[in-house]
Amino acid sequence: MSTPPSQRVSIIGGGGNVGATIAFALLAKGVSVEVLIVDKADNAAHGQAMDIDDASFSLPGTCRIGTFQEAGQSDVIIVTAGARQKPGESRSSLVDRNYEIIGSIMESMKPIRPTARILVVSNPVDVLTDIAQKTSGLPRNQVLGSGTYLDTGRLRNELSVITGVSSTSIHAYMLGEHGDNQFVGWASATIGGQPLLSHPKMAGVDREAIHERVRRKAYEIIEAKGSTYYGIGLCAANITEALLYNTSQVYSVTNYVERFGCYMSWPAAIGRGGVEQSFEVRLDDAEKKQFDVALDAIKSACAKF
Ligand SMILES: NC(=O)c1ccc[n+]([C@@H]2O[C@H](COP(=O)([O-])OP(=O)(O)OC[C@H]3O[C@@H](n4cnc5c(N)ncnc54)[C@H](O)[C@@H]3O)[C@@H](O)[C@H]2O)c1
Repeated sequence: MSTPPSQRVSIIGGGGNVGATIAFALLAKGVSVEVLIVDKADNAAHGQAMDIDDASFSLPGTCRIGTFQEAGQSDVIIVTAGARQKPGESRSSLVDRNYEIIGSIMESMKPIRPTARILVVSNPVDVLTDIAQKTSGLPRNQVLGSGTYLDTGRLRNELSVITGVSSTSIHAYMLGEHGDNQFVGWASATIGGQPLLSHPKMAGVDREAIHERVRRKAYEIIEAKGSTYYGIGLCAANITEALLYNTSQVYSVTNYVERFGCYMSWPAAIGRGGVEQSFEVRLDDAEKKQFDVALDAIKSACAKF
């Protein structure tokens, strides 16, 4: 490696499956960055850092174990620490176990670099992002969560099979909550400037079945292999790339939406400053009802902490 990477990303919880996969995905994408693996389990962090750094010999990035203090001074801090779902368990049920972990991680990193951006991945991500913002003291636009970006990818893959159009050319979002109250923004969805629902291959499609498959996919994976990490690994790496390279990509991430008065999984443009723009999404009457349920679920969970 001739020039060492100038930007640093720390992954708290990087000794686990999701954190290590994000580290690997970042490096494999060719992002020029120093990745620090930080975990309360030293041995796991050490092993993951060494294993991932083995992949860096032909890549611009590097990976090593790091401390909470170093993490606090990073450009981007990714949080994947905490309990994960057991088979059949909902994401929201993790909040009691994970909210204290988030608070203690923020304390361990202080003083946090004022320009750092925090990306929360631990579940329930919408609520934990709110807790991370409050306990870190960073401005709201610098603290975001992975939100329904992964669910949106699952939705677009389904729609791609039906329409025969690449998933990256389908503008459709899973909205609201990265949890059981997520819903499809059908009314705002487009392909090539045309409303998705007017695409000939969408006629007669069972939309509720698509919604349900997307909503249940994580449960299915956890039932089969214990946890999910490849999909979220690439999603979090893409968001991190947008934060480091100021790409202004629009992803449905957990961001603080002023007019809702809380964090929510909603489309936003991501750049160097964090969340740079959050968008108005047109909802039909049924979606407005689903939106109200999701908003209420997130607000009442946040109010408890
Ligand atoms: N947002 C998403 O789309 C998404 C997708 C998959 C998983 N997740 C979530 O990511 C989280 C991690 O999942 P996983 O499969 O990697 O779990 P894992 O058990 O493999 O890893 C969790 C890691 O966190 C570490 N940890 C726990 N408390 C810590 C603390 N106080 N400080 C530092 N490290 C600590 C553990 O030692 C462990 O290495 C879970 O909350 C899971 O629900 C989110």
